[in-house]
Amino acid sequence: MGKDVIIACDFASREETLTFLDQFTGRKPFVKIGMELYYAAGPEIVRELKARGHKIFLDLKLHDIPNTVKKAMAVLSRLDVDLVNLHAAGTKAMMEAALEGLTRPDGTRPLLIAVTQLTSTSQERMEADLLIEKPLDQVVMHYAKMAQESGLDGVVCSPLEAQKVHEVCGQSFLTVTPGVRFADGEVGDQVRVMTPAEANRIGSDYIVVGRPITKAADPVAAYARCIREFVET
Ligand code: C5P
Repeated sequence: MGKDVIIACDFASREETLTFLDQFTGRKPFVKIGMELYYAAGPEIVRELKARGHKIFLDLKLHDIPNTVKKAMAVLSRLDVDLVNLHAAGTKAMMEAALEGLTRPDGTRPLLIAVTQLTSTSQERMEADLLIEKPLDQVVMHYAKMAQESGLDGVVCSPLEAQKVHEVCGQSFLTVTPGVRFADGEVGDQVRVMTPAEANRIGSDYIVVGRPITKAADPVAAYARCIREFVET
């Protein structure tokens, strides 16, 4: 898969999601289904969007004992999603089990990426709550390396970390980056943001864009602008 824009469908119901996506009559966007929508609408929403021609990033961030994650991943693989994720904090054994579970009898599987440290975790909270006393960026790079050694395809990371992840893990290790805003847009609750063009320059493979598209007056135009800035500049 090449560079692409993934729309974060952070909606509370199937109806809201379909009404939003009905506007896209041309190119069917790659979409992200997160916990809110999946827990509300279930696996059926995944089947429905796949049938409509969307690629799906199922952002459920699995983290449990290896056997449980392996079995859960086998279920998600049968849903035919394109991209799924887990927490690297679950350790290598969990990541390797996840890959086993995801791999179909014919050897194919969805791409699997890891969350390193959530971007909502600060150095201070990591030290005080998790007793991890190394610098945050070192922890992120260690988790990325561990994910790569376990056979995963990439990581979700801040756009500010993407370049370094590629330096540490190589150019073909995928970086999927949220926190994207248009130069003239609202930042909202995201703290460290980048424009689609900047994300392209620093080497993000996929950008995850929510509100700049979902809350735009013209979502189709906002999506087209993201594609233009990220993929075509
Ligand atoms: O609306 P916005 O563009 O901020 O949405 C970004 C999406 O990426 C949301 O679904 C959010 O949960 C997700 N995300 C993030 N930061 C992370 C991981 C995921 O913003 N570190």
